[in-house]
Amino acid sequence: MGQMSAFWRLVGAGWVLIRADALIPREIDPVLPPSARLAARTLRLFSGPRARRGRPGERLAGVLETLGPAAIKMGQFLSTRADIFGAPFAEDLSRLKDRLPPFPLDQARIAIEQSLGRPIETLFARLDEPVAAASLAQAHPAWLLDGRKVAVKVLRPGIEHRVVEDSAVLRLAAALADRLVPEARRLKPRDFVEVVIRALDLEMDLRFEAAGCAELGEVMAQDAYMTAPTVIWDGVGKRVLTLTWASGEPLSDPAALNLPGLDRKALADNITRGFLAQALDHGLFHADLHEGNLFIAAPAQVVAVDYGIIGRLGSGERKYLAEILYGFLNRDYARIARIHFDAGYVPAHHDVDAFAQALRAVGEPIFGRDARQVSMGKLLAQLFEITALFEMALRPELVLLQKTMVTVEGVARRIDPAHDIWAAADPVVRRWITRELSPVAKVRDFTDEALKALRALVRLAETPPATTAVVMPRTGSSLAWFATGALVAVLSFLAGARVFG
Ligand SMILES: Nc1ncnc2c1ncn2[C@@H]1O[C@H](COP(=O)(O)OP(=O)(O)O)[C@@H](O)[C@H]1O
Ligand SMILES: [Mg+2]
Repeated sequence: MGQMSAFWRLVGAGWVLIRADALIPREIDPVLPPSARLAARTLRLFSGPRARRGRPGERLAGVLETLGPAAIKMGQFLSTRADIFGAPFAEDLSRLKDRLPPFPLDQARIAIEQSLGRPIETLFARLDEPVAAASLAQAHPAWLLDGRKVAVKVLRPGIEHRVVEDSAVLRLAAALADRLVPEARRLKPRDFVEVVIRALDLEMDLRFEAAGCAELGEVMAQDAYMTAPTVIWDGVGKRVLTLTWASGEPLSDPAALNLPGLDRKALADNITRGFLAQALDHGLFHADLHEGNLFIAAPAQVVAVDYGIIGRLGSGERKYLAEILYGFLNRDYARIARIHFDAGYVPAHHDVDAFAQALRAVGEPIFGRDARQVSMGKLLAQLFEITALFEMALRPELVLLQKTMVTVEGVARRIDPAHDIWAAADPVVRRWITRELSPVAKVRDFTDEALKALRALVRLAETPPATTAVVMPRTGSSLAWFATGALVAVLSFLAGARVFG
């Protein structure tokens, strides 16, 4: 696609954002400099009825849902940057729905036959209407010739073309923001957009997802907390994925929790343990464990579907997690600080002792207290300050782990409101700490304490992460909004000049 076409599509997107007052939302007016406020108010003259409903994050999510797969993916990534945009905004964005009307069954048939290179009848006895349709793919129930029920995921026809076009728009927006708005550079818009595009590209080859499902399925089978469907490799192609049908009820259906014989406590424990065992023992975890991807059966069986996003923790990261836990536990802040420098999380030009002092400020108030008594607001503010002051670059894998942990804890608590993630984590964490930190004896004494400390640490992990070396000060959200707003103001002006000039 030519730059000009990408340009006009970007202008179009800017216009939709302005209509919903999702670009420089009125909520941030108080923190804008006067000139920007004037510009924002001027743009707002064009806002439509959608602009009056909901919080800014909700309005933006609503717009992104209509703008196609790349915008949806970008929204999902933005929702992980609470460090920049603030927690409520990130939270609203994370509820963005990736649901579209399905494409017709006939088209799905054609797509399946082309991708697999064989007539449908040679593999499937029956293929039904889709049960779910998203921006990239939809899922059909089907039956193999041997009678087994399967789920067939099929990419949307023409989706590659759409994604290529959208990617060009995203790249243009990032390049313009980078060039025209100095404040935006701190967000590294080009890098951010490349990460989004890379994720989209991977999701457009379902063989990759099939491999992820098979690999993680083996890992899950080792301790049976949860299971994965079996991959039917004959039914896998670039655009088609065939998995055995997940038995049980979808957890997204509230009625599922009233299944006779369901042990809600055991079920919640299985989900928490399953996730932690994957991540800590195997360094490979399902990173999209929301209700829509989980199927349950009595008494406490869990099947996870959707292996589009898989997190990987190298042995270095797993050891790092254990070390941090151990260090906080001993209040050995110098040791934790050193680990951060050794791992390269904090650039070497910073002062180790000062970093240790900052860690002490975070660690000390937590210990000896029930995590519920710890002020999340204060903790957040302190962590933001540390990341800002020390340019701490958390590795993306750790951020993904932390984000999934929050999701898992939410799911488990909705299943069993009395769920104690710390108690549930106990057997898995014990195993992991003992293995990662030797000599064993030294560690054993600390294991109980370590579990207590983990409670506090996982609370810490619930705080928004910094995914890259990019760190914004607390004024970050207004700057980010201002940068985007200024960009679109310029674009709209240019567009106007072309149309009217
Ligand atoms: N193996 C399966 N068994 C039963 N239902 C499935 C299976 N795989 C997918 N589905 C259904 O299709 C929906 C969409 O599939 P999913 O892999 O989650 O795609 P998406 O990436 O669009 O969320 C799921 O939420 C689930 O309802
Ligand atoms: Mg899904």
